[in-house]
Amino acid sequence: MDIVAVVVVALWAMCPAYLPNSAAVLGGGGRPLDLGRSMGGRRILGDGKSISGTFVGWAAGAGLALVLNELNATGESLSGVDLPEFPLAVVIVFPLGAMLGDIAASFLKRRLDRERGAPLPVIDQLDFVVGSLPLAYLVAPAWFVDTFTPAVLLVVVVVTPVLHLTANRIAYLLDLKDEPW
Ligand code: CTP
Ligand code: MG
Repeated sequence: MDIVAVVVVALWAMCPAYLPNSAAVLGGGGRPLDLGRSMGGRRILGDGKSISGTFVGWAAGAGLALVLNELNATGESLSGVDLPEFPLAVVIVFPLGAMLGDIAASFLKRRLDRERGAPLPVIDQLDFVVGSLPLAYLVAPAWFVDTFTPAVLLVVVVVTPVLHLTANRIAYLLDLKDEPW
């Protein structure tokens, strides 16, 4: 695969793991996932992880994976790149893993005594990758190895933080998010 194909495959494959975070911002608020409970004097997760945000984030990512499957042939003829199709198990667990990674990062942040919204560089930008990729590997190992070649994985790790920071900056400027990170 040439470098353009690697980048196109990386972006296409990661879309269902990228969307949940942004969708959660739009669908968030309401009952917190930890139901307001604390652990050792600190919130378990905090008000930044809500039941509705988590569900909306997951559903948006799964919906996008289904849409991308429909658009696969069109995408291939437009880009000239062999694009991956998401198996149903991946449609379900990929965005779920993204949300779980983000939730795990909040758990960690509260244990480190960081308030809701406080930045935790590197982890904030990659938590959803660390959550989504292993889950996809667990449910569809052959598909995973085929899609996420070492080159594709490298592009994901380099490009994801840039996209994440850009998306959050835009959400902040649009007044959708309280912090620019
Ligand atoms: N959000 C949500 N449910 C989620 C994830 C996000 O409702 N599972 C919404 C919340 O309104 C949250 C916003 O999206 O404030 C931004 O998400 P994020 O930056 O992940 O949360 P933070 O507010 O920064 O909280 P934390 O410090 O726990 O990460
Ligand atoms: Mg945040």
